[in-house]
Amino acid sequence: MTKDGMLRLHTLRQGEPTLPLVLLHGFPLDHRMWLDVTDLLAGDRTVYAPDLPGFGRSPSGPDVAEGLGRDRAVASLEVMADGVAAALRASGVERAVVAGLSMGGYVAMALAERHPELVAGLGLIDTKPTADDDAARARRLELADTVVAEMRVDAVFGMRTSVLGATNRVARPDLVERIERWIRDQGPYAVAWAQRAMAARPDRTEVLRAFEGPAVVVVGDEDEMVSIDVAHEMAQTLQDARLVVVPRAGHMTSNESPEPVASALTALLRRAEQRDRAAAEAQG
Ligand code: MLT
Repeated sequence: MTKDGMLRLHTLRQGEPTLPLVLLHGFPLDHRMWLDVTDLLAGDRTVYAPDLPGFGRSPSGPDVAEGLGRDRAVASLEVMADGVAAALRASGVERAVVAGLSMGGYVAMALAERHPELVAGLGLIDTKPTADDDAARARRLELADTVVAEMRVDAVFGMRTSVLGATNRVARPDLVERIERWIRDQGPYAVAWAQRAMAARPDRTEVLRAFEGPAVVVVGDEDEMVSIDVAHEMAQTLQDARLVVVPRAGHMTSNESPEPVASALTALLRRAEQRDRAAAEAQG
């Protein structure tokens, strides 16, 4: 990976070097969405959060692809996942608990598939393993064309409320404002590239079935993009998963109700550490 294509990896908290937590942000945001959860994590954890290609302070999708020796013209979740793996390895991280919200969850599943040795535990938050249907794919490609044609990200401003649950859309104007600010900070090319990458993503249900480590599936009971049924099915597909349903939260559980998300991730870290310790002892 060339330096120019390296994702920006933020250290949200510096703690114990063993088994850090890596948090992958949703669309169209950046690492800052994880600060609420990080503040509430128990224990002395090291927490990293990359900005995914084009978002926050990271290089563009085409630059990340080129840095990985790929075609600049092809946007994909695989480039996101390989970019995250390269940034982690460049920081000396060979193994971590990886958690992602929505688009970040798609990247986490791609990491589990492509870099299984890196993933000691999997946190899947308000996300799903399935691919888009034709209509959803077409909407994404149209949105990508629109933001690039307008050279603005106004077409995704609606997400400042649609990602929240019905309760918090009304009750938390501060959160609506914060999410709008985060969206405004992103550029049209990042939004378009991510939409094209998500449109091209494959179904990763079999990746969940094959994943042997501990996992947690988290969903808000007011999430309008991922239903509790889908989350329940994911937890059943995984070999060792717990399901956490967060009351009165929508798609942004990490910010609408960060306490149960932080508790779920703290418990996941403990389970992953125990699993790794047991595996090391069994090897002698
Ligand atoms: C997200 O929150 O990351 C998006 O809803 C993901 C998507 O568009 O599928």
